[in-house]
Amino acid sequence: MEQVKILFVCLGNICRSPLAEAVFKHKIKGTALEKIVKADSCGTSNYHIGDIPDSRTIANAKKNGVEIDHYGRQLCTNDLEQFDYILAMDNSNYQNILRLAHASHHSDKVQLMRNFDPQGKGLEVPDPYYGGERGFQEVFDILDRSMDQFIAHLEEVHLSGAKA
Ligand code: 4NP
Repeated sequence: MEQVKILFVCLGNICRSPLAEAVFKHKIKGTALEKIVKADSCGTSNYHIGDIPDSRTIANAKKNGVEIDHYGRQLCTNDLEQFDYILAMDNSNYQNILRLAHASHHSDKVQLMRNFDPQGKGLEVPDPYYGGERGFQEVFDILDRSMDQFIAHLEEVHLSGAKA
């Protein structure tokens, strides 16, 4: 069966995108989708290469029952080739990814994460880095519901209705 590769992208790869990756993996655990997908995350910047996620992200994920396991890395041209879905957390990430994607003719793979948010289609996943705990929970809630719709989309397109 085809493998489907998904990449979640933010600026630093220590708050939003590693959480998106963790929430996605948590939700598909034990399902048919788990067998055919590979998920990863990265940042458009080089600020946190090799770093574990922000301690507030780890604490918030844990509070919500999600384990997070990732080391920061930066988006590279090869990612545009390798991944099938490239999901940007905000408009700035989106524009930065598109700059790379245009050169490799892969712009069609890139979209905003919140295109899958039934309550905020087209909006941004806000950067929680300079805020407090409430911002981290807001990010979690946005990702939680966006991921449900994204997973439903993947199941429909890639599993042809077959469920675990
Ligand atoms: P993220 O948040 O893009 O969700 O990982 C940020 C993390 C670090 C910085 C900015 C945003 N920073 O400026 O270091």
